[in-house]
Amino acid sequence: LTEVARLKNIHKIVMGKFEVDTWYFSPYPEEYTQQPRIYICEFCLEAVGTPRQFERHRAKCQLRHPPGNEIYRDEASRISFYEIDGKRQRSYCRNLCLLSKLFLDHKTLYYDVEPFLFYIMTSSDETGHHLLGYFSKEKQSSEEYNVACILTLPQFQRMGYGKLLIQFSYELSKIEKKTGSPEKPLSDLGLLSYRSYWADVILEKLYEYQGEVSIQELSEITSITTDDIMHTLQALDLIKYYGSQYVLCLSKNNIAHHEKNMAKNKTRIDPARLDWIPPK
Ligand code: COA
Ligand code: NA
Repeated sequence: LTEVARLKNIHKIVMGKFEVDTWYFSPYPEEYTQQPRIYICEFCLEAVGTPRQFERHRAKCQLRHPPGNEIYRDEASRISFYEIDGKRQRSYCRNLCLLSKLFLDHKTLYYDVEPFLFYIMTSSDETGHHLLGYFSKEKQSSEEYNVACILTLPQFQRMGYGKLLIQFSYELSKIEKKTGSPEKPLSDLGLLSYRSYWADVILEKLYEYQGEVSIQELSEITSITTDDIMHTLQALDLIKYYGSQYVLCLSKNNIAHHEKNMAKNKTRIDPARLDWIPPK
């Protein structure tokens, strides 16, 4: 039987300089649900119910960045990634799951953080490294999942950060020499973002590529699974039957889309800045 939909219990959160409306139920302690809004420390992600408690918290909280190894830093965009082990930083990761549940409607694991690594994306200024978003990844995935949960905080959505998180997850898979795909089911927004990322990458590779390339090769270069590549090729209508075989063929529209995308000059993950070896 399906879990009964739980009513939204927390309506607003205050984080850094933002006040944000929540989307879904999250199992915060009962006492918080009495408050009009809760205050969440941007650095350790502890929640408190009143401004006074928050001031007290800020006075003693020493953290200025996520409690893990910084495995990526780009000085120009000021973006960093931290790797956090759910087993070592249980309280931080539980806080993160409670917070992200406010914006996810069908994830049910909030407390079982130990089997996961968390990749936290931050933006730095003189006051510290501020959380933008994250994804979690199972330490041992029986499927070929390279992302369990993925979130951009609502105050930073639709600015390209989701696709940066997705790109980062595939850069890790490339280092692992594996293909990967996000855990299903994906939310509507998750699916939109992945489809857009897959289309960008596949169009870019086909545009750059001279000569023949197989779907298997595309998969090896990008760490995107052959299934996800096939779906994307179909969605982009790139597969043509020609001279008794199937060929991939870029249309004028595809090329225009790609050239427009390149001209946007968006921030991207630079794999050379990634300082990471796969955990054993
Ligand atoms: N409506 C329409 N399109 C949207 C959209 C929206 N609300 N939000 C994102 N998109 C599109 C963008 O236009 C972009 O496509 P484009 O590059 O082709 O223009 C693409 O999706 C990615 O946008 P981006 O800004 O990189 O993503 P984001 O930072 O907003 O994050 C999610 C995307 C999915 C991480 C974010 O929506 C989120 O955290 N949602 C809640 C949690 C969730 O559902 N996670 C996924 C399941 S675990
Ligand atoms: Na989800």
